[in-house]
Parts: sequence; C-alpha cells; structure tokens
Amino acid sequence: MSFDRKLKIAPSILASDFANFGAEITAVETQGADWIHVDVMDGHFVPNISFGATTCAAIRPHIKTVMDVHLMIAPVDPYIDAFAKAGADFITAHVEAGPHIHRTLQAIRAAGARPGVALNPGTPVSAVAPVLDLVDLVCVMTVNPGFGGQKFIPEGVEKTRELRKLIGDRDIHIEIDGGVDPTTAPLVAEAGADVLVAGSAVFKGGSVSDPAPYGYNIRAIRRACE
Ligand code: DX5
Ligand code: ZN
Repeated sequence: MSFDRKLKIAPSILASDFANFGAEITAVETQGADWIHVDVMDGHFVPNISFGATTCAAIRPHIKTVMDVHLMIAPVDPYIDAFAKAGADFITAHVEAGPHIHRTLQAIRAAGARPGVALNPGTPVSAVAPVLDLVDLVCVMTVNPGFGGQKFIPEGVEKTRELRKLIGDRDIHIEIDGGVDPTTAPLVAEAGADVLVAGSAVFKGGSVSDPAPYGYNIRAIRRACE
C-alpha cells in the first residue's frame, strides 16, 4: 500500500445492516468506497457495544480495499494480536484509552498492522505529538465516539489544520470520523484531511438490493470537496 494524500471515502459499517456485513461491504466498494471503516466498541471506553475481533475476521475476506479498524476499547493491548490476526490493515487506538499509548502503538506495528491514533473532541492535538513518528494515521474525532448519526463538532476543523502543520512531510494520513457529509466534508478536506469516514451519510437511502444510493452519497461527498 503506497502513501498518498488523495481524498479517500471510508464508509463505516456501523451504519450498515449488521445481519449482512459481507454484502454491504461489497455494495459500498462497488459503489466507490476507498476504504472500509470498522468500528469496534466495548461498552466501557464508549457507552455502546458493537462487535469484536471474531466479526472482523469474518468480514475480512469481503473487503477488497483497505480494512480500517477503529478500536473504541480499553484496555487495548490484550486484544491487539486478535485484531491483527483478523487481517486489519490499520488498527487505530485512542490516545485516551490508557496510560501507555506509546507501547500500544509499538505493539500494533509489531503485530504486523499499521498503527493509528485517535483523539476525542475534548483532547488537544498536542496529545499525539509525542507519538507521531510511531503512526501511519491520526484520526480526529468530530463527534464523541460511541454512536453513528451525531452532529459534526466544528472545532475539529481547526484541530485538523493544526495537525496537518504538525505532521509536515511525514507520510501520515489524517482521518476525520463523525458527522461527515457533503456540508462538513469540504471543511476538513480543505484543512488537510485525506480520509473521510462516513456512516449515515453513505448508507442512507440505499440497501444491498438497491445499492445505487450508496454511490450517489459517496460521489456527493467527493464532489463537495473538489
Ligand atoms: C463513532 C464512530 C464513527 C461513526 C460515524 O463512534 O467511530 O465511525 O460510525 O458515523 P456517522 O458518519 O454517522 O457520524
Ligand atoms: Zn470510527
């Protein structure tokens, strides 16, 4: 996988039909998704439970693009190997998830995946500065993690700009997660983000048997950023 800053749309399967992940993934990829964003929630770090590493392993063969696993769990370290073995390309852990994010990111790399670090809306960009040389991706949360369909928190735009400056010429993706739609996407793309996660804005109006709306929705986000 070579690095580039071209805009990538990463539909979050959190907004898809949970009884049909394989077909939903194929549908959004056929309709133009660049990456597949996989939200893992533990009911402890965030107030909601989604699914774990077994589900990730089951869906892996259906993903032809990039499997981007977002861990909203604490602790992280005991589960890293399971998510790496499940075939995750990126494994992103929250800087707030524990006292040893540096060790966690090293462990993700050692397990064979690309490490990402996520920051909550209440966490400053400076919190990830000491670990930037360990990561391939920084995820700026523009909602409080735990649920899809929430309203975009606009302070994320300035944080993205600040992070873009801090990253400089390092090959680190900037991902935006939460409330991304054709109105908010251009703000963060202009500020320097290259990966836009979108759940509700991609899956709304479509289904496995009628996937064309997924394509309209993905193209609407992309077009808004041009
Ligand atoms: C939130 C998740 C997001 C979520 C985005 O905790 O990390 O990935 O699915 O959903 P939307 O795009 O609906 O805000
Ligand atoms: Zn996410």
